[in-house]
Amino acid sequence: MASLQAIKYSRGKLLVLDQLRLPHEHHYDEVSTSEEAFDCIRSMRVRGAPAIAIVAALAHAVELHNGSCSASTPEETIAHIDSRLDYLKESRPTAVDLSNAITLLKLAIRAAQIDGLAHPEAREAILNAYISAAENILEKDLQTNMSIGAHGSAWLQQQYNLSSSQSSSSQSRKISVLTHCNTGSLATSGHGTALGIIRTLHTNGLLQHAYCTETRPYNQGSRLTSFELVFENIPATLITDSMAGALFNLHREKMNIGAVIVGADRVVRNGDTANKIGTYQLAVLARHHGVKFIVAAPTTTLDLETETGRDINIEERKPEELTQITGAVVNADGTVDTSKTARVAIADQRIGVWNPAFDVTPHNLIDAIVTERGTVVKGADGKFNFSQVMPEKW
Ligand code: MRU
Repeated sequence: MASLQAIKYSRGKLLVLDQLRLPHEHHYDEVSTSEEAFDCIRSMRVRGAPAIAIVAALAHAVELHNGSCSASTPEETIAHIDSRLDYLKESRPTAVDLSNAITLLKLAIRAAQIDGLAHPEAREAILNAYISAAENILEKDLQTNMSIGAHGSAWLQQQYNLSSSQSSSSQSRKISVLTHCNTGSLATSGHGTALGIIRTLHTNGLLQHAYCTETRPYNQGSRLTSFELVFENIPATLITDSMAGALFNLHREKMNIGAVIVGADRVVRNGDTANKIGTYQLAVLARHHGVKFIVAAPTTTLDLETETGRDINIEERKPEELTQITGAVVNADGTVDTSKTARVAIADQRIGVWNPAFDVTPHNLIDAIVTERGTVVKGADGKFNFSQVMPEKW
């Protein structure tokens, strides 16, 4: 049975949908240890900045719940949790949500009320503080995404004077949008960030059409976003990454294409944004064609300690992701046999390959950054100022 839920959790048990098998197979892996979470994240069975952070945090909660920590003093318990979290942090380097979650979890265990408690009770209090803080990350994420959807939809409505009105006196005015990668339910605990804005636009009757890019080489767009859009009956069209320019050139006016909406893996202090490879070229095209370029990012994706995009560590992945592809077998009559998937070579396996997983879009190409606390736009000085959404870090 198809599901849009990437993460299923109850205390002591974590199930993660294997996104390498989507859209053909729906298989959940049980993830019970830090090592299993590390492997699940590194191999991209789960991916998307918020989902990575949630899986890492909860996998360690599961192993603690199941008695993995043999430390006896509070100091040893904290040191044990810290070392597991430091290990998990190395699974994927670019998305900052994971390291922000780890900072928050480390603070939560240090805030546990252990004064006057004997060692066994103090240890228990620290473990409970960790588990509650990890569960809280999961619970908050959905609310965050719903708020991003509402803020993004409202901002676009105001920019384009959109209306879903069906009355004879006023015409409805909707927009079409383009998105890249997968930022939906599968990349989060639900609803999504950039795809969450598209969902909310659709629910509000303001969306004419959604375009999604294939997003080579992992195909988050064709495998995951297409699946989510079809699943939700949102009017949508899939294009390859190389078709965006032609789409804007030939269909922007006819289809009222008003925005490119993407997610983020790290937004730094000046607004430069790391996101899925191919995002930067879309921002250049959007500017050339007068299409707004919007980044949807929860505040957990902000890294205000890094000044500019030049300092972002961009993950490079293995050549096989470009030179091979996984697909299901297509029968002679055009039907797809989802039980037969195969890994297929699509290039000479000896060719040299450069495979950066992300690129950086400079802030000057970004019109708005939508967070759960509101939409941030550039001031008269041309600079983003995040003090309205992150006063404590400004
Ligand atoms: O390599 P991925 O699939 O983890 O990359 C995902 C993206 O780039 C997303 O746009 C980003 O993580 C935001 S997901 C809400």
